[in-house]
Amino acid sequence: MGWFADDAGSRYDESTGPYFEPATIEATVDFLESFAAGGALELAIGTGRIAVPLAARGIRVAGIDYSAPMVAQLRRKSSDIAVEVGDYSTTKVDGEFSLVYLVFNGINNLTTQEAQIAAFANAAAHLAPGGCFVIEVGVRPDRAWTVFDLSDTHIGIDEYDAETQRLVSHHLSPVGDDLWKLASGEFRAVSPPELDLMARLAGLELRERWADWNRTPFTAESTKHVSVWQKP
Ligand SMILES: C[S@@+](CC[C@H](N)C(=O)[O-])C[C@H]1O[C@@H](n2cnc3c(N)ncnc32)[C@H](O)[C@@H]1O
Repeated sequence: MGWFADDAGSRYDESTGPYFEPATIEATVDFLESFAAGGALELAIGTGRIAVPLAARGIRVAGIDYSAPMVAQLRRKSSDIAVEVGDYSTTKVDGEFSLVYLVFNGINNLTTQEAQIAAFANAAAHLAPGGCFVIEVGVRPDRAWTVFDLSDTHIGIDEYDAETQRLVSHHLSPVGDDLWKLASGEFRAVSPPELDLMARLAGLELRERWADWNRTPFTAESTKHVSVWQKP
């Protein structure tokens, strides 16, 4: 949890990059809204980057997150969103939803296969019949080291072990003259077929898979996917 503790909430909302672009957020919310007539539950809701604009469209939104500082930041922006503080793979919230969603590589935060399986079971337990679980996540890296960002203000490098699926993201940020700070976070990468199997174990069926929120077809060249599994 160290990654999202302390002043994480306020620092997170000052982030820049593709996930924080208004057009990205709008496309994400447009997609999710189409599944959310019966209410939406966000796993790892964070500061409400997506939940707050989704709720602003009149959708009932609830969330789970284990970082109190991230949730505190969300509460400063909205009092309409019910949030439980806890691990999203096991924590329950009241009610049923037509949509449960987990965006921005959130499934990778669970670093064991068991925990990822539990997350699918927990999502399914909150879905009404016909409801959908939507995940946005990158495909597994195809090499041991990937530089995913290189600028004057941030260097991002992923370290990946294909045997264990352990993924460590290293972030270097300047903190002063010629000084850079390194922060690293540990994740578990997971492929689309493995996710499909986790969904099956939870009683869900694959309904759609796209390369992005604009419904670009998913291909072997896609670097991420937006997948939708449905509860019969
Ligand atoms: C990158 S932020 C994303 C927040 C939000 N979903 C968004 O898209 O902006 C990741 C969030 O996942 C939360 N998180 C990570 N692992 C978690 C877990 N096992 N249970 C609950 N929350 C978790 C962190 O506290 C953090 O708020």
